[in-house]
Amino acid sequence: DPSAALRQGMIGLSKNTKVRDVVEKAPVSKDVVKRFVAGTGTADAVSAVRELDGHGKLATLDFLGEDTLDKAQAIHTRDTYLDLLADLADAGLTDGGRVEVSLKLSALGQALPQDGKKISLDFARSICEAAAIAGTTVTLDMEDHTTTDATLESLAELRKDFPTTGAVLQAYLKRTEADCRDLATEGSRVRLCKGAYSEPASVAFQDKGEVDMNYVKCLRVLMEGKGYPMVASHDPRIIEIAGSLADKNLRAADSFEYQMLYGIRPKEQQRLADAGNRMRVYVPYGDEWYGYLVRRMAERPANTMFFLRAVTGK
Ligand code: FDA
Repeated sequence: DPSAALRQGMIGLSKNTKVRDVVEKAPVSKDVVKRFVAGTGTADAVSAVRELDGHGKLATLDFLGEDTLDKAQAIHTRDTYLDLLADLADAGLTDGGRVEVSLKLSALGQALPQDGKKISLDFARSICEAAAIAGTTVTLDMEDHTTTDATLESLAELRKDFPTTGAVLQAYLKRTEADCRDLATEGSRVRLCKGAYSEPASVAFQDKGEVDMNYVKCLRVLMEGKGYPMVASHDPRIIEIAGSLADKNLRAADSFEYQMLYGIRPKEQQRLADAGNRMRVYVPYGDEWYGYLVRRMAERPANTMFFLRAVTGK
């Protein structure tokens, strides 16, 4: 399957630091990045979500970064989230969870050789505390399958004190239907996405059709359950099915939400919001945009061409 090969290759590129350094330094990259990334600093992030809020959309902010093996970097990530939450609260954007934050435990040191899991959990806990003070909450992004158990364990710990902390489950993983059953409980927020990493056939469906089918199966479990489903997809078929599953389960418009990425299908985001749905936009910001962007390219060759043309000036 050529698109699977391209995807694999692109994801490989996302780990290549030489390529990353060249691309990050290409001046034109910055303009292209703007389409998918809200800027580099906290002020950029706050102004992007203020604009979304003005148009009736919810947001979740992601300070870009992942896979750190440097404790100082993990501390910097934690502190950036703490500052961000304070600024969002000052701007009046956090009450009722209108703007929340998404975290990657690997950016908070989950893979540090010494006590990584504990450090990332402690840092995530500080961010959950700051979010609660600001009147909002946190969602833990899900990364590659080697981290799923550790991330779900950290989630369970955080939910003891901060029960609204959200999880992400990935429909490409074979285990996910069972995880959805476990998490489809009262007060539990679950973002269901297809999954963005390159995973082996032993744990993940490789065929797009199978991933889509599993997405629908998992979504059915979440919509029938007692939790709060967050439908993270740009796929028109998935969005339509989510609407009918919500109707079938007599779910009120405020008992689930749609989620899409910043810069992807913005008109559809507005249409869903204008129709009275809860629509949350995932807004990444910061300097470390390379890995994030390459995963978006891998999903959609049209974006890749747009990006490469701009980088090469052709
Ligand atoms: P897919 O990529 O299969 O596209 C399906 C269809 O959607 C396309 O055929 C097209 O019709 C439409 N479409 C897609 N992109 C488009 C574009 N640029 N323009 C126009 N139409 C487009 N992953 C992960 O592993 N861990 C995580 O924590 C998260 N978090 C997360 C949060 C949120 C809010 C979102 C939306 C996504 C994630 N993801 C994620 C990423 C996710 O796993 C997945 O890689 C992408 O959302 C792409 O999958 P889609 O469901 O959008 O469909």
